Formats: sequence, C-alpha cells, structure tokens
Amino acid sequence: MSFDLVFFGGTGDLTWRKLMPALFQAWRHGKLPAQGRILAVARDERTDDSYRQWLKDKLATVDDRAKRPTEDEFDRFATQVHYLRMDLSKPDDYQLLRQWLGGRSTDTVVMYLATSPHLFPVICEQLGAAGLNHPGVRVVLEKPLGHDLASAQAINEAVRAVFSERQALRIDHYLGKPSVQNLMALRFGNVLFEPLWRRESIANIQITLAESLGVGTRGDFYDRTGALRDMIQNHALQLLTMVAMEPPSSADADAIRDEKLKVLRSLKPFDAASVARDVVRGQYRAGTVEGAAVPGYLDEAKVPPGSATETFVALRCEIQNWRWAGVPFYLRTGKRLAHRHAEIVVNFRPTPHSIFPGTQTPNKLVIKLQPEDGLQLHLLAAKGAVGTEQTATQAEHLSPVSLNLDFDQAFPTVRVGAYERMLLDALAGRLNLFVRSDEQEQAWRWVEPILEAWRHDPSSLRPYSAGTWGPAAASALVARDGFSWTEES
Ligand code: BG6
Repeated sequence: MSFDLVFFGGTGDLTWRKLMPALFQAWRHGKLPAQGRILAVARDERTDDSYRQWLKDKLATVDDRAKRPTEDEFDRFATQVHYLRMDLSKPDDYQLLRQWLGGRSTDTVVMYLATSPHLFPVICEQLGAAGLNHPGVRVVLEKPLGHDLASAQAINEAVRAVFSERQALRIDHYLGKPSVQNLMALRFGNVLFEPLWRRESIANIQITLAESLGVGTRGDFYDRTGALRDMIQNHALQLLTMVAMEPPSSADADAIRDEKLKVLRSLKPFDAASVARDVVRGQYRAGTVEGAAVPGYLDEAKVPPGSATETFVALRCEIQNWRWAGVPFYLRTGKRLAHRHAEIVVNFRPTPHSIFPGTQTPNKLVIKLQPEDGLQLHLLAAKGAVGTEQTATQAEHLSPVSLNLDFDQAFPTVRVGAYERMLLDALAGRLNLFVRSDEQEQAWRWVEPILEAWRHDPSSLRPYSAGTWGPAAASALVARDGFSWTEES
C-alpha cells in the first residue's frame, strides 16, 4: 500500500511529541508501508533536509527513552519524511500541496490536522477548493474540537461541506489505548461478564484519569480550556460509553458508534442544582508530587493572575436506561494529583447473604489503562491455613486476592501505543476507534450546563494541594452514596 500522510502543524508540539514518535514506532515495528510518504506542513522556510535535522534533534528528547531512534534508525525512517512550507490561509499554497501530492498516484491520502481548531474550517474549505477531497482522502481532526456545542457544530458543518462523515476521523487517543481494546474483548468476546454487567450486580463504576504532571508549557491553552473540556468531554465520556454500551450487532464502526451515542443520549442532564450537588471542581496549589516540590497553578507560566480555570473535576452521573438505572458513575480527572494513574473500576454488589461473617469484600474488576496496562479481578479466597485456636474465625482464614492479567507481559511483542494504533487505523481506513460527529456533539450538549452553572457560581472552585487526590469534596461526593474512591477503600 502506498500512502501520503500530511501533518498540518508539522512543527507543533503534538507532531514531534506524539505523532512522529508514533510513526517512528510503526516503522520500527515494520507496520509502515515503505512506499508511504510523510509530509510535514508548516509556515517556516525549511527544506526536507533541514526539517529532518530538526526532527532528529526533537526525537532525541522525547520523554519515553525507548522511543528515541538511533542515528541509523532515524536516517532510514527519515527517507519517508518531507517538508512543505505553506501559509494555511492562502489558497495558492494549497496548489503547492496539490502539486506535491499529484506527483504520483497514491491509494490513500490522510490529512492530519494537528493545528489549532480555529484553522480546521479554513483548511477543509481550501482542501475542497483545491480538489483535495476526493474519496481517497481522509481528514483526521485532533481535539479539542471546539470549546462548546456551537463551535463544535460550526467546525463539523465546515468539515461536512467538504468531506463525508466516513472521511472525517475525529481522534480520541484514549480509545487507542490497549486496555480499551481489551475492555471490548472482555465484554463482547466472553460470556462471563455480560450477565453481571448491569444494575442488579454492579454497585458503582469509577473512571479515574489522574495525572501527576502540571500544565507544563501549555498554560495559555490550558487556561482557556480547563479539565472539563480537556479530559471529561472527550476521554472520560468515551471510556464511559465503552463501559456502558449495549452489545453492538457487529464490530462495524457505525454499529459500535450507534451504541455509544445511545449511552451519551441516556446520560441524565445536569441543571444548576445537580451541578452544585454532583460536580466538584478544583485548582491545584503548590505542593509535593512524587517527592518534588511543585508550584501552584496560578504560578505556572502563561497562566493569567487570578485565573478561575479548573485543573480537577470529579462528578457523579447516571445513565437513564434499564441496564444502568440508579447505578452511580463517578468520573474524576486532574493535573498534579498524587500519581499518573488511569483506570476504570467496576465495583460489584456484596453477596446477598454472607456465611463468612466479617469478611465482606465485594468483587471488583479494575481495568488499568496506565501506567501499567492490565486487568485485575478482586475475589475472596481461602488462605489454606488452619488456625490453632479453637476460636479462630472464618475471617482469619479468608483473604481478598486478585487475579492479575498484565498485558505487557502476556503480549510483550505485539503491543502498540495509542497514537501508533490510531495513525495506522487512519491509514487503513478503520473507523471503529474514531468518534462520529453526533457523538462528539452530544458530549458537548451534556457538559454545557456544567460550564453554564460554573459561570454563575465562581465560588465553587476549590483549592487542593498538588500531590493529593484533589479537594476533599470529591471524596464526600462518593461517600454520600456510601462508597469510596478505590485508593481510599
Ligand atoms: C490530552 C490532554 O488530550 O491528554 C492533556 O490535552 C493530557 O492535557 C493528555 O495531558 C493525557 O494523555 P495521556 O495519554 O498521557 O494520558
């Protein structure tokens, strides 16, 4: 297969920190067709060679050392990398792109828009005007897609005017994480869990996306965005749809996306009163994270003084359908929390009647997204020891244990990272893991009343110390229902 993969925003952070390392990994794994060309597009004056040199220097600094290429690897990978200078607002420059692409016949052209989303409409319009929207072209749209429902709709309208829905791939890299694939396999490839996957057996579900990092160099972007838009509207809600959806009729992209959309539509809408009761927002103050002293959000570079942007959100929501009525779903995300730690925890109900007094430990299934990637099933087991005392209780012989499945160990050679997978899917036209515009708009519709309520209630922002699990109110939110977050139980 030959392909042309064009990165708009070719010198941006996302391109060198995530996309190019992912492509390089795909190359390393022998998954990147050798006839393919990768074109970085940006405003600066550069040649192929000077761009390659720049990229080489950048890739030598990527966070994950295992993903840094050796000199020889980079040189071989870089033969597929090219550069084109373009001013994205100038129609003539799209002719340059057309000429560059037109130089040969290619099966697939993927335009990856890794730019600020305010440029998406103009880029799509100009691609259309230059005739670069034929059926072989796909466009990948990075988040954030808008900052509210109206702006997301405006972007989608501009995209739809030029590309069909099946040509427009909205990326949510959390869906590319291996554990999320495993969640699908667990639910729909096994008979064990499905009968229990409902209100009769499940007490509550918790989704935690915790980061230990702060806002880093992205203070200005983050301050306009906040945790609700950055993580909940997309990543957390997408995970929730994967946990809660009905079994799709097939593995076809639209069969899956139809079911995910139904979940989003069934989420109980918020109003001012339920936001005040069920949503906690916080902002980090100075503290200690993993042994290092770190500044508070207001002292981060490019954050305006007195900012009221939230860096933490915890919320309780409900899905109004037969399967999930009355089961609380707790979502939580934040920067500068105690550890980098993302997981989905399914807490089962206690046994209806215990014959082992004092040993109630309800079953729990933990789907770990990161830093490790695996599944843990918590069960009650007998220790196999016999007490010497006549009075030894059952509780002394029984113990909670967990069945651990570490996917990194089970499948060490085949694991691919989220962006690597999403890029290969985009090239192959596999749409299952991309978000459809109706899902994305429905997610905005659901978070908007929260944004609205916060606008009228600035006092609801609670401080928390960096290195903790967020404001105490987040624990209270769960405790009110008689539950606790996993790390507190
Ligand atoms: C991005 C957010 O979508 O996801 C970032 O914009 C966040 O703020 C990142 O840090 C987290 O992704 P991951 O894969 O590192 O958990």
